[in-house]
Amino acid sequence: MIYRYVYGDPINTDAVVQQINPEDNASMPYFKQTIKEDEVVFRYEMNEETIVYGLGEQMRGINKRGFSYVSYAADDPVHTENRHSLYGAHNFMIVSGEDSFGLFVDNPGKVTFDIGDTNINLIEVTTGKDSDIYIIKGDNLKDIVRQFRVLIGQSYAAPRWAFGYQQSRWGYKCEDDIREVVDGYHKNQIPLDAVYLDIDYMKDYKDFTVDSERFPDFEGFINEMKEEHVHLVPIIDAGVKIEKDYPVYEEGVEKGYFCKDEDGNDFVAAVWPGKVHFPDVLNSKSRAWFGEKYRCLIEQGIDGFWNDMNEPAIFYSEKRLNEAMEEIAQMKDTELDINSFFHVKDIIGDLSNSLSDYKAIYHDMDGKKVCHNDVHNLFGFNMTRAAGEAFDKIAPDNRILLFSRSSYIGMHRYGGIWTGDNSSWWSHLLLSIQQMPSLNMCGIIYTGSDIGGFGCDVTEDLLMRWIEFGMFTPLMRNHSAIGTREQEVYKFSRIEDFKNLIRIRYRLVPYLYSEFMKCVLDNDMYFKPLAFDFPEDEFSKTVEDQLMVGDSIMIAPVYTQNAKGRYVYLPEDMLMVKMKSPEEYTCEPVTKGHHYISVDLNELVIFVRKDHILPLACIDDNLESMDDVDFDNVEWLGYVENEASYAYYKDDGQTKEYTEKENWDIVRKTKDMFEGGYIVK
Ligand code: GLC
Repeated sequence: MIYRYVYGDPINTDAVVQQINPEDNASMPYFKQTIKEDEVVFRYEMNEETIVYGLGEQMRGINKRGFSYVSYAADDPVHTENRHSLYGAHNFMIVSGEDSFGLFVDNPGKVTFDIGDTNINLIEVTTGKDSDIYIIKGDNLKDIVRQFRVLIGQSYAAPRWAFGYQQSRWGYKCEDDIREVVDGYHKNQIPLDAVYLDIDYMKDYKDFTVDSERFPDFEGFINEMKEEHVHLVPIIDAGVKIEKDYPVYEEGVEKGYFCKDEDGNDFVAAVWPGKVHFPDVLNSKSRAWFGEKYRCLIEQGIDGFWNDMNEPAIFYSEKRLNEAMEEIAQMKDTELDINSFFHVKDIIGDLSNSLSDYKAIYHDMDGKKVCHNDVHNLFGFNMTRAAGEAFDKIAPDNRILLFSRSSYIGMHRYGGIWTGDNSSWWSHLLLSIQQMPSLNMCGIIYTGSDIGGFGCDVTEDLLMRWIEFGMFTPLMRNHSAIGTREQEVYKFSRIEDFKNLIRIRYRLVPYLYSEFMKCVLDNDMYFKPLAFDFPEDEFSKTVEDQLMVGDSIMIAPVYTQNAKGRYVYLPEDMLMVKMKSPEEYTCEPVTKGHHYISVDLNELVIFVRKDHILPLACIDDNLESMDDVDFDNVEWLGYVENEASYAYYKDDGQTKEYTEKENWDIVRKTKDMFEGGYIVK
């Protein structure tokens, strides 16, 4: 059951799609409330056993207890443990303990979740005075998630090709750079489905333009890549460059489609292109206009996009830069001491993504002037919604790949996310493992992190271990920052091992895609903490580094350097499958409990649940991309003691004809069919 409580006069965020009638606020269960002038505070007493799940992209573990989290979309590339905000604002959490329920705080401004930080036994949620609050009671954790997901609407379904391996790097500058990457993969017989175009493909970082010196025949190049079965995925940034005769800028100004300052002038910020205006994507006309701009790239053959810098990131605003420069100029001939020197440093450092700029931007929400700070978390959502809504018109029958950096709940209906600028750190491999189930709870299913890490220099072993996990994330993209060590897998010494591992992804893809689509259609989770599938099992509740992937398997990735294996907890007897290539595997039943499992650097280990099966693609040496995967003639990997059945979801992977249950094949296998082995036709 879902209960809604309305405080003040909340802004309609379009996060939810179901109309729930409000209850009397005084009747809200679980929480004590304090209503202040500007905010409402909800307090809940936990006992020692209480676990808190959710909050989407946030930092820290699967169990969120013991820290404070602030929903205020942040362009912050330093994802260290002390951070309270990342790019997304996902205000849904689940309390699991004596009471079990979900809480969704629908407020697009700043919301704080103190989950046992100030007091280890207390949850304190602070939100604005105008908030919509939902409490969800359910039979179990999965049921709570399912109800929440019905409330917020069906998640975005990516095209099937986007489940292939994808290569990206900030620094591919021209056609030849990209040809070299594709050649690097093909020469080494490593499958590849997409290469990303980062900001350098644009002319002077202007959205919806292509630099004609670097890409003299863009359409021809897109087609050339298509012949290689490689999709090109360009980036689109939130800021529109201020430049005379640049049509997007001219039109936006003329029609009044940009965000304003307090006086009603177009707000001037600066990002990659220098000075920019932000499209007011919270206004429906402006949103439709911005979305329509993607058409020019789609008509040339582009079928995927990533939306970036949409917190929105601001390097500086014109107004504050001027003020800062003046202040520094005044200090020019003074001697800087301990205080004034650091003050000068801060004057520049504090220019970026500053609260005072966010407070100085205004939206026209279809007739209502709203200060950006109050709706900050809606910008990335609505930029991506602009694209998603436009795609329905531009390419009504086709699924276009779309994902965003910033997001709010509701955006999951239009696209996925990637987890932003992580680093080539082992701790970030673990962070990525822990973010996935929390994101799924919030409806974000097409997701993944920058494999290998975006910032810093990756090492070969980290990249390999990351691929062993990334092979399960729907978005499997290797991406890195300009200036860091080159991260394409063929640039390392153990190319053969990388090749084998990436090929295993394609072997698993019938299962991964089937599970992904079922989760979309059934409002289920693709990645689950163990306790979601084994609620009665006490130890499962404490496991922070293993995940259930779909219905049939569990994974326990290695995420520490020089490890030769790791301890794994099995909540039931399972079949351990170790693979070094799609052809080379061993299978061994392992009993419920704790085990040390050795895992070579080039080895993938999965655990198959008892009486479960999963489809595997039969792939051969000619495999180059998803186009070579035959989803009809599959093999079945299974651990069948009695019998198992599997709902195998198949579709064309490209059109939007995916709502019908006809696409589900129920496959049954009994013990005798396996004749002592574990893989059968
Ligand atoms: C941002 C993005 C990153 C991208 C870079 C350049 O930092 O998060 O993925 O490569 O901008 O566009």
